[in-house]
Amino acid sequence: MNCGFFIPTTMQIIFETTRLILRQFTLDDAPLIYQLNQDPEVVKYVHEPPLTSVDQAQEIIANIILPQYPNNLGRWAIHLKENNAFAGWCGLKYRADVDEIDLGYRLMKSYWGKGIATEAATHSLNYGFQNLNLKTIIGKAHIDNLASIGVLEKIGMKFISTGMEDECPIKIYSASQPRL
Ligand SMILES: CC(C)(COP(=O)(O)OP(=O)(O)OC[C@H]1O[C@@H](n2cnc3c(N)ncnc32)[C@H](O)[C@@H]1OP(=O)(O)O)[C@@H](O)C(=O)NCCC(=O)NCCS
Repeated sequence: MNCGFFIPTTMQIIFETTRLILRQFTLDDAPLIYQLNQDPEVVKYVHEPPLTSVDQAQEIIANIILPQYPNNLGRWAIHLKENNAFAGWCGLKYRADVDEIDLGYRLMKSYWGKGIATEAATHSLNYGFQNLNLKTIIGKAHIDNLASIGVLEKIGMKFISTGMEDECPIKIYSASQPRL
């Protein structure tokens, strides 16, 4: 059966949803991360300067994304099943500075407003609770980042408090492992 999606043997799939495939990044994906993070609108609320080179994207993959994978956590590349297009990333990251598992997502602008972040984030939460047996997952967004706050609320995370991070005002949300 031809399912229309070529999966190289090196590509580690994390999970599939109705419309999406989430997989681990590799160093070869630097052009995709560059394409995503060079857009000033995409990084507007995440306290990161837009990237100016593919080399910078490779450093992000090597130093920030790949080190999460040995713990089965991480930011995972999102591909549309219908055409294999790269839409952005979503996933769970351990933040040692605050000892928290953080849910995050970032999409290319052309994919905003289609429910993709909601779909990927819902399954990332489920994956964290069911497959990784996490007890609590935190989500944070700049108070003006209404799209991100919309996702956190739509997937059922509970508002905990406001706070400051990187000198920016943020809203903090939390989800707990559902009781069986
Ligand atoms: C945040 C982001 C991933 C949202 O992705 P998305 O796929 O557009 O989100 P969804 O389509 O799943 O929308 C979820 C809900 O958010 C709300 N929402 C989305 N965009 C919105 C906007 N611009 N303003 C207000 N609410 C918005 C809607 O209520 C939507 O629910 P609905 O479908 O009932 O209308 C995307 O805007 C993005 O990549 N932004 C740049 C990176 C970023 O800021 N990441 C988050 C850092 S905390």
